[in-house]
Amino acid sequence: MTTPASTRISSVTHSEDLLVIEWADGKTSRLDALWLRDHCQMPASRDPVNGQRLINVIDIPEDLSIGGVSHNDNDGLEVTFLPENHRSRFSTNWLRQNCYCLNAPFDDRSARTKTLWQSDSFSGGLPCSDYAEFANNRDCKIAALRGFSDYGFAMLSGVPVDSGQVLDVIKHFGFSRNTNYGELFEVRTEINPNNLAYSNLGLGYHTDNPYRDPVPTIQLLHCLSNSASGGDSILVDGFRAAALLKQEDPEHFTILEENWINFRFSDAGAELNSRVPIIETNDLGHVVRVRYNNRSIASLRLPEEKIRSFYAAYRHFAQIIERDTLKIVFNLEPGQVVVFDNTRVMHARTAFSAEGKRHLQGANADLDGLYSTLYVLQRGEQ
Ligand code: FE2
Repeated sequence: MTTPASTRISSVTHSEDLLVIEWADGKTSRLDALWLRDHCQMPASRDPVNGQRLINVIDIPEDLSIGGVSHNDNDGLEVTFLPENHRSRFSTNWLRQNCYCLNAPFDDRSARTKTLWQSDSFSGGLPCSDYAEFANNRDCKIAALRGFSDYGFAMLSGVPVDSGQVLDVIKHFGFSRNTNYGELFEVRTEINPNNLAYSNLGLGYHTDNPYRDPVPTIQLLHCLSNSASGGDSILVDGFRAAALLKQEDPEHFTILEENWINFRFSDAGAELNSRVPIIETNDLGHVVRVRYNNRSIASLRLPEEKIRSFYAAYRHFAQIIERDTLKIVFNLEPGQVVVFDNTRVMHARTAFSAEGKRHLQGANADLDGLYSTLYVLQRGEQ
């Protein structure tokens, strides 16, 4: 079998500080000596079993240089580092897959790696999996978790209508997160509720619990009964809304990114505070999280000269979120579970009647557990 051009080396040159690889497909890797030494794959530098690094950056000599390089197509490169006279071997596959010139940083959370959606994106129906298949069929679970990763939500049907079942759903992809609302929370009408969620009022678009640090990154809602009229569930892609804001007024986007605000929750047994931006970006300027919850924004403490511009940006973002063209609307039926990424997707609910019964059970989980489950399952595909 011939080696693909992308992992065949045409030539290697080096100076004291830099190794330059010309690949057979015309690409170039320019690898710094410090980076190469720090990424040494030899048993003295990496644990051969778990792959974890055994050296610290201060173990690398400050006057490190490349003393020599040899290569052949089977063994890859052997680099000698001075003054240690340390030899490191790198396979061509490893170099190609890890080179910082040819590979973007791994990024499974930001909007850059997602499919942004709006109302007309799901003309074929919302992504929904049968629970028994999700639980027992590996391919079905991979497809559902991939869909969740891409769209920020997924639905399951055929979940037994038993109290606490939503916690069993979580066990199929991760771990539940306990909070002061309990590991399992009831969403039904209560007298004098500590949160409007537990009334029959409509709820505007929001992400949950922005006053919590860390914020719960996944929310699940399991419908146990729904004979009340109204109570439709609505989802909006917050990453899509943020992209529209940036497109329509980049200054408004920057204001919500740069001006951090306080969110707060307070009741008899809890006092929760955070200071965070409404739109959070990473070092590359990609949106990684949105927080939006008018009910729990604490007193706004910004410099006087920023108050007006903040409200203009906040109003603009709110108007985008409210657009009918962005929302998907559905009525949860008994046995259905909606799972959504609470760092991305905003949810809302219309008011429902006092007659009849609407009972959902909710729970939180976290994205890291879900992504880990997906990646471990995908290993079998390679
Ligand atoms: Fe909520």
